[in-house]
Amino acid sequence: MKVLIVYNESDPEIYEQAPEISEEDLDFKPYFDLENSNPIDEYEAMAKALRRAGYDAYTLNIMDNLQHFFDNIDKNKPDVVFNLMELYKDVAIQEMNFAGLLELLDIPYTGAPPLALGTCQSKILTKRILSSIGIRTPNYRLVKSLNKPFRINLNYPLIVKPALEDASVGIEEESIVYNVDALKKRVKYVLEYFAQPALVEEFIVGRELNVAVFGDKEPEVLPISEIDFSKLPDDLHPIVSYQAKWDPYHVAYHKTIPKCPAPLSNKIRKEAEEIALKAVKAVGCRDYARVDMRLSEDKRLYVLEVNPNPDLQQDAGFMRSARTAGYSYSRALKMIVDFAYMRKRGSNGK
Ligand SMILES: Nc1ncnc2c1ncn2[C@@H]1O[C@H](COP(=O)(O)OP(=O)(O)O)[C@@H](O)[C@H]1O
Ligand SMILES: [Mg+2]
Repeated sequence: MKVLIVYNESDPEIYEQAPEISEEDLDFKPYFDLENSNPIDEYEAMAKALRRAGYDAYTLNIMDNLQHFFDNIDKNKPDVVFNLMELYKDVAIQEMNFAGLLELLDIPYTGAPPLALGTCQSKILTKRILSSIGIRTPNYRLVKSLNKPFRINLNYPLIVKPALEDASVGIEEESIVYNVDALKKRVKYVLEYFAQPALVEEFIVGRELNVAVFGDKEPEVLPISEIDFSKLPDDLHPIVSYQAKWDPYHVAYHKTIPKCPAPLSNKIRKEAEEIALKAVKAVGCRDYARVDMRLSEDKRLYVLEVNPNPDLQQDAGFMRSARTAGYSYSRALKMIVDFAYMRKRGSNGK
């Protein structure tokens, strides 16, 4: 089986920078490494893991030029494309179009189909679909401009997010607001800085759960992971902010610690599993996906978003859950390739 791992990092040099700060410069004790992992190394590690599983895997960086991809598939004729393509020429919606191209070319590929990738890019569309089948999501308003007076009609505290970003982009301390002045200020910032509508949601005080779903025809829910906020300094909100996700010199990065499996009662665990399966099915994800939820203090589960094709790095959420379920990295990756390959065989009757 020949597997092409395809990704698009138009500027791979940016990952070569050495850390400028050492542990002694920080006023807290880091929990993780001070170096962000280099995604290019991770793609190579994936290829290596697939080779360990017996597959002939190799990587291709498209470098913002589709011709590289066409030349490569003509030459190598991969059986499956492992689709890790996200931005193309910095445009997020091209992620779905690339999956569409793979459909047109009739090449088996891993992960979500175009429609699911497009749907989940809009948190609003996702929320509408989920609420229509009775899945709870935080109450919200979409604010497109501040020209007209607006009545928000939601209960504070609120969180203001860019409606079309992901990976905690635009999620900071200032995103959580307690009054209308702070709300307007943050909405203005999102409208101007991100040039997109602001999604204003009721802030769910409570715990944060990541629920990974694995499989195609009969997906299974992997052990649930929790982000432990208990070590965060009191002046920081318990959220996965941009700093918590990406800034290795920030205290939030080291004090938002994933725990898997999350200690949950059987009742809540089952409920979270059912919600995750229903949510993933409703938006059309497949192979691997992750549903982000909050569990409120009154024990209600709210879905924040559904992530198709979540990060597959070894230390990221999906693989942590897979490992806890007993799947090695190499086995989990091989299974994802197999889902794609079998789906194609199934549909062609070959
Ligand atoms: N309504 C909410 N209530 C509480 N926390 C939230 C809410 N919405 C977002 N957050 C926090 O912000 C983080 C990022 O939000 P999310 O909607 O998952 O967007 P993304 O991960 O795509 O940036 C979440 O992991 C959570 O910590
Ligand atoms: Mg999220």
